[in-house]
Amino acid sequence: MNPIVEVPIVEVQDFGVAFGLKDRPLHAVRGVNLTVRPGEIIGIAGESGSGKSTLCTGLIRALAPTARVSGRVCFDGRSLYDLPMREVAAMHGRDIAMVLQNPMTSLDPLFTIGNQVREVLKRRGVPGAQVREQAIAALKRVHITAPEMRVGQFPHQLSGGMRQRVLIAMATSASPRLLVADEPTSALDATIQDEILLLFRELRDRTNAAVLIVTHELEVIRRVCDRVLVMYAGRIVEQGPVSTVFAAPQHPYTRALLASTPRIEGTEVVLTPIPGQVPDLRTLGPGCAFADRCPHVVDPCRQFKPEFRDLGPDHRILCRLEGGVQ
Ligand SMILES: Nc1ncnc2c1ncn2[C@@H]1O[C@H](COP(=O)(O)OP(=O)(O)O)[C@@H](O)[C@H]1O
Ligand SMILES: [Mg+2]
Repeated sequence: MNPIVEVPIVEVQDFGVAFGLKDRPLHAVRGVNLTVRPGEIIGIAGESGSGKSTLCTGLIRALAPTARVSGRVCFDGRSLYDLPMREVAAMHGRDIAMVLQNPMTSLDPLFTIGNQVREVLKRRGVPGAQVREQAIAALKRVHITAPEMRVGQFPHQLSGGMRQRVLIAMATSASPRLLVADEPTSALDATIQDEILLLFRELRDRTNAAVLIVTHELEVIRRVCDRVLVMYAGRIVEQGPVSTVFAAPQHPYTRALLASTPRIEGTEVVLTPIPGQVPDLRTLGPGCAFADRCPHVVDPCRQFKPEFRDLGPDHRILCRLEGGVQ
């Protein structure tokens, strides 16, 4: 794979998503610029309410109908929000696999598990003769026991964890171009979690699909992803290669977030919570949204919008402090 000649699968320019009243909008996502290349696994981190789910669903045009979108999203070179919805729906079935937090991808109660898995395989172009066998294999990969029996069952006959695994089986079967997984493993046992993460990597290795994983577990990102996006108050405040960002995080928020994940020191589990609260997205001031919680804050941070600062190949932060944090 040569990343220089590879055409991006997703290109996002100055993307924003607002909810609520026009005169008192809630900007769930603002000013996002992002390129996702085939074959890369990107992790999205940030506290609850930072806009991770809104960004993920926004860049595949799967947002709630009340959302107001600005900017531009291209999928495979086509402007997603300029396409007729039926073309987008076809892409969702064929090119874009998703395990989302909202009900859009939940299982249909009226159809058997087998029916639903086979439908995805057909839409992704698997030949008819192979569909049944591949459906069983997909369920086996997510450790559904007795898949031959499960395919005849309806969603209500499965536990919540098992339904989640069926969704993951559907998302990782055949060859999607992009997989978006929003907190895909948070409802699952730790032992299964690891296997699911391996499945995402296998999918990438097998099909060169791009994978976006939202998780609050930074350890998952460190182990599985190539690149990380850190979100705060609707903006990407730091993005870069996982190895760079985890070794030397530069945005004060990334530092705080990494320090807040539990880690073992000697025999002790150490955790430093981030002081303060996530700001109200409806009443943000003109300056940096992290200013009130930032240990390095200086006056201009509160008055002026922070600008992106390039720190190295593919690594940048949204912070006015010289070279990030010293
Ligand atoms: N459908 C919606 N209607 C109104 N507000 C929403 C909707 N979806 C998300 N939000 C708001 O957008 C912000 C970001 O939410 P979300 O993207 O779910 O964050 P995260 O996934 O990082 O927890 C939150 O303030 C949330 O309340
Ligand atoms: Mg979310």
